[in-house]
Amino acid sequence: MTSTRPNLAASPYEGAMDLLNPGPGRGSTAPRAHVDSGLPTLSLNGDWRFHFSPTLAAAPQGIEEETFDDAAWDTLPVPSSWNLHGHGAPTYTNVQFPFPLDPPHMPDANPVGDHRLRFLAGPEFQHGALLRLDGVDNAGTVWLNGTLLGTTRGSKLPHEFDVTGVLRAGENVLAVRVSQFSASSYLEDQDAWWLPGIFRDVTLLAHPAGAVRDVFVQAGYTADGRGTLRVELDPPVPGAVATIPALGFTATLDGSPDQVFDVGPASPWSAESPSLHALEIATPKQTLRLNVGFRSITVEDAQVKLNGVPLLFRGVNRHEHNPDLGRVVPREQLLAELHLMKQHNINAIRTAHYAPHPALLHAADELGFYIIDECDYETHGFEDGGPAHQNWAGNPSAEPQYREALLDRMARIVERDKNHPSVIMWSLGNEAGTGDNLAAMAAWTKQRDPERLVHYEGDWASPYVDVYSRMYATPAEVELIGRQEEVPLPDAAQDAHRRQLPFILCEYVHAMGNGPGGLREYQGLFEKYPRLQGGFVWEWIEHGIRQHTLDGEAYFAYGGDFGEKVHDGNFVIDGLVSADLEPRPGLLDFKKAVEPVAIAISADWATAGIHNKHDFLGTSHLAFTWRIDTPEGRHSEGTLEVPATAAGDVAAVVLPEEIRENLGGQRVLSVSAVLAADQPWAPAGHEVAWGQQGSPAAPVPAVGATGRVEARGGEVRLGPAEFDVATGGLSSFRGVPVNGPRLNLWRAPTDNDRGKDWTVPGQARDAEVWAAAGLPLLEGRLQSMEDDGGRLRVRVRYGVPVARTHVDVEYVWASDGARLELSAHVEPGPGWGRNWPRVGFDFELPGGFGQASWTGFGPGQKYPDTGMAAKQGWFSASIDELQVPYVRPQENGARAGVSALRLDGPDGGISFLSDGMSFALRPWSQEALAAARHTPDLVADGISHLTLDAAVHGIGTASCGPGVLPAYQLAPGPVDFRVVME
Ligand code: GAL
Repeated sequence: MTSTRPNLAASPYEGAMDLLNPGPGRGSTAPRAHVDSGLPTLSLNGDWRFHFSPTLAAAPQGIEEETFDDAAWDTLPVPSSWNLHGHGAPTYTNVQFPFPLDPPHMPDANPVGDHRLRFLAGPEFQHGALLRLDGVDNAGTVWLNGTLLGTTRGSKLPHEFDVTGVLRAGENVLAVRVSQFSASSYLEDQDAWWLPGIFRDVTLLAHPAGAVRDVFVQAGYTADGRGTLRVELDPPVPGAVATIPALGFTATLDGSPDQVFDVGPASPWSAESPSLHALEIATPKQTLRLNVGFRSITVEDAQVKLNGVPLLFRGVNRHEHNPDLGRVVPREQLLAELHLMKQHNINAIRTAHYAPHPALLHAADELGFYIIDECDYETHGFEDGGPAHQNWAGNPSAEPQYREALLDRMARIVERDKNHPSVIMWSLGNEAGTGDNLAAMAAWTKQRDPERLVHYEGDWASPYVDVYSRMYATPAEVELIGRQEEVPLPDAAQDAHRRQLPFILCEYVHAMGNGPGGLREYQGLFEKYPRLQGGFVWEWIEHGIRQHTLDGEAYFAYGGDFGEKVHDGNFVIDGLVSADLEPRPGLLDFKKAVEPVAIAISADWATAGIHNKHDFLGTSHLAFTWRIDTPEGRHSEGTLEVPATAAGDVAAVVLPEEIRENLGGQRVLSVSAVLAADQPWAPAGHEVAWGQQGSPAAPVPAVGATGRVEARGGEVRLGPAEFDVATGGLSSFRGVPVNGPRLNLWRAPTDNDRGKDWTVPGQARDAEVWAAAGLPLLEGRLQSMEDDGGRLRVRVRYGVPVARTHVDVEYVWASDGARLELSAHVEPGPGWGRNWPRVGFDFELPGGFGQASWTGFGPGQKYPDTGMAAKQGWFSASIDELQVPYVRPQENGARAGVSALRLDGPDGGISFLSDGMSFALRPWSQEALAAARHTPDLVADGISHLTLDAAVHGIGTASCGPGVLPAYQLAPGPVDFRVVME
């Protein structure tokens, strides 16, 4: 790196910007907690002057000077991700770095964003002040009034600079030069958009001499129900007074770190009942205010315990993303996200893969979430590093020159967030391989904060962590771990240590596109084995960036849509909610899979078992309601008396006579647990959990073959139907043009179909196998059409180009003059391989058939291993409402367990009755669905495309993890299907 010759290319800024330094930033003050210090603050958020340069060489000179003329510059809001304000373009990569793996260097094309702000500071800041930047991506250099304050490293971590003596009463000029990349980019290889900018708040904070610099409050909870309090002030202020008015608690600090107070009986904090107590700490200079939650965290019996009780995490991984602003998340959005999580029974968040905006933790304390607070650290791109496959060569986790930077990062998150009751684990980072620097981060963390647990997934030996954590492990492996029978580590001592650790899946059930399948299986294991303490879905939010077509239609963009040379496509679209917070079907399924109350109704509608699966709460915050639905509508409803049931207990409830009397027929009994009173995150009446009994299905009517098959010209008639002699299919039904049935063995591949099943090494991807087998190109050849004693028997052989593989279908039609019955038998020839996505029958109807009503599961989609959220009942939806607008279009929208489907068009309707089928109705063809890359590519073609499925393959989660579990696979084989049309 050093040369004896003068480097004529060097910019005069290079020294100040220090971009190649693998160490921490320079010049900032020691990290500390983010609390209300009772001292004046001034937000410097707002419109700043901004200039974008594609390279440092092209960047303007002298921007730090007060006299610099920035009048011609643009303005840019701070905080912001400048790529989303018309400067440069976002880049998405997952593992791979978007630049050569050549640490600590960066390519010349390293964009620079220059930010300048003139601001007035009042006299209250003249006795000492700090300037805080809460997040600068990636490397900031900061000048105030022409004086270099220092640099920032650790994009999602705060940096404070002492501006005492530099700050003036009156006007000041702040200049921040931000480089998109620096040596520290090698430490921030998270799976997300690369989005440079000052993306979190900038604040001026008064900090007069004698003010408390930092505070560390440890609020514990004892086995006999008392709160304890330790308050460490830096510097110590003997005589400072701590009060918790609500508890009548007052104590005087003696300045020693060993002073621990007994605050007396106090309600403990948990995610289920987040009791917070306002604490004030008064010193001669100021009054600090923070909320404390009394709770203890321990590991015993290979379990994480809070207040002595083992926890079950119903968690999600949360990145920070806004579809229009990038990494800037407005407070209203943050609260909306957390409310949505609470509404869907989520109780834990891993802040993947960096320290979140501090507001998240304040809200998590109040609303109740367990937080795994993760450091801003990932080096995944070192694992492979291109064709040479150098396997973690040079990985910063193991390189001494990065140690200081990594310890600095850890200190910045721990010091900032150490007062939050919601934070129960510190995570060292994500996917950063192994190495001594990680052990050093863990050791520092433990000595600074002995009670909280340390988490890191990337070192499976788990030598320096408190929980054994993995991602995407198969249910089979998770079960072994649950039994403490996992494959041993080579080192016996390490193995013994790890075998005693609690287990979590810090990532599982990859929520990309249609899915995730397999939720139920994992949840079953978590609830069965005490060591398994739940998991965190990957991931909460999709990172779509909102764009518009030329005619103004909005859609979400993904990797490659901004002309990136290197990118990972739509792998960034893998959330339970869309980028604008629309719940995906996976979120509804997760809510059901993890419901904290299980309601099991007996088949005779006489009793219900209410299993309280909360860790702490009884059932008194819930009300229980019941209702009976019939084909005619809601029949009756009422409330149910459920005795107060402690966490973990089951109440057996005798159902009222009124319910039992209604048993039978096409009736469905639903029992729901709803909120009894308003909560900050949902109103009274919000449904938390439910159970059902009964079936809405009516028997399919028998259709006598009383009609006559009549052949006339090019057409064959049978009762209300006409058939096309060229294809053997229907051409009309009761005068409505109908084209079908046509055998359909394919589906527009889902993201999971396109993934690699982790459970079967070397196995090709389903979508590729199906394409190679020609399933998208299936075509029929009419073999025969005969009148078989009043029945019309049609034989069609389906094949695919090139191959000998075929499937024979015999369609037998009967009619009693009004109704039409189809009995189909599907008989595959040999050679079809391991699975088919579906055995379905396609029909084309006029586009006016745009309204569906059905009896079965709804209102949402359901596949064999998903759709736990779907209830039994009677539903209706328009053709548009039936579609799930996945960002990359793919198979979606199947309604399952359907016994009756009615499609309505302008001139009446057609019904399809079956013993149980799935259906999908789309305004475009399956081929168009498969070909579309973004939602605007899907254009209604004037036809209502109906598919009735006799059998469906599961969804799985192979986009990252296990594929479709064996029980949900659809093996090619004979299938019988019967449907009655009327
Ligand atoms: C994990 C990683 C996440 C994300 C996920 C796939 O390996 O930790 O950041 O990339 O895979 O979406």
